[in-house]
Amino acid sequence: MASLAEDLKLALDRGAFARALGLEPDGWQEELLRSSSDRVLLNCSRQSGKSTMTGVIALHRALYHPGSLILCLAPALRQSQELFGKVLGFYRDLGRPVSPQGERKLSLELDNGSRIVTLPGSEKTIRGFSGTSLLVLDEAARVEDELYFAVRPMLAVSGGALMMLSTPYGKRGVFFEEWSGGHGWERYEVPASQCPRISEEFLEEEHASLPPFIFRQEYECSFEETDDQVFTTDMIDRAVTDEVKPLFGTGG
Ligand SMILES: Nc1ncnc2c1ncn2[C@@H]1O[C@H](COP(=O)(O)OP(=O)(O)OP(=O)(O)O)[C@@H](O)[C@H]1O
Ligand SMILES: [Mg+2]
Repeated sequence: MASLAEDLKLALDRGAFARALGLEPDGWQEELLRSSSDRVLLNCSRQSGKSTMTGVIALHRALYHPGSLILCLAPALRQSQELFGKVLGFYRDLGRPVSPQGERKLSLELDNGSRIVTLPGSEKTIRGFSGTSLLVLDEAARVEDELYFAVRPMLAVSGGALMMLSTPYGKRGVFFEEWSGGHGWERYEVPASQCPRISEEFLEEEHASLPPFIFRQEYECSFEETDDQVFTTDMIDRAVTDEVKPLFGTGG
């Protein structure tokens, strides 16, 4: 059990909290842990540690902000479970018991009234959860836009924080839109080359064996043209010019 002084330090310093869990944060992770922004976008390479760091942040909030409701969503339940599994693992590392019931229900309820709840990313599952203090969307590039539109007003009422983390998945969807033009976000871009756990040799091998656009997407934070697009977005942008007046009146 940590002493009161140690516990106070962990409450105030999320970097120290990560270290207490056995993780030495990478540069961007340290920056994220120090940040007090409540709108965060992580556009990161595969395996760079985005789910892990978000798990640390989720657990920190639950432990040190009594009564918090934290929702973890992803496009499929399996993906939200992965994030939840990390949170549970950390919680156990701190020597705290997890009831089998909580594990089954994919939710962790703490003595201080905080709850971490895992849901599959569908608009229907999220309705009814009010008072959320942190909402995490993992694999956000693959989350349905409707889900995002359903959660935004909910956060407006609760004043909750929103974190969207993903590897890119084409020039489409809310993650792409927010990354490229949304307001009020703190943005982190983390290519594989910045991850100390991904070797240069591994990346060279991947580069040689994957189609170039997949490599750029998975490891270089690049929003590639979607497979089903016959014309590239750039071609469309160049073709569509606002110098041409519409043939029919637009009412203005
Ligand atoms: N700072 C760190 N120190 C040590 N290990 C770390 C650190 N950050 C992440 N890891 C480890 O790196 C691995 C990948 O982390 P994680 O699953 O969070 O990555 P991800 O970006 O979510 O990957 P994916 O795109 O596959 O979902 C995990 O084994 C995790 O424990
Ligand atoms: Mg992940």
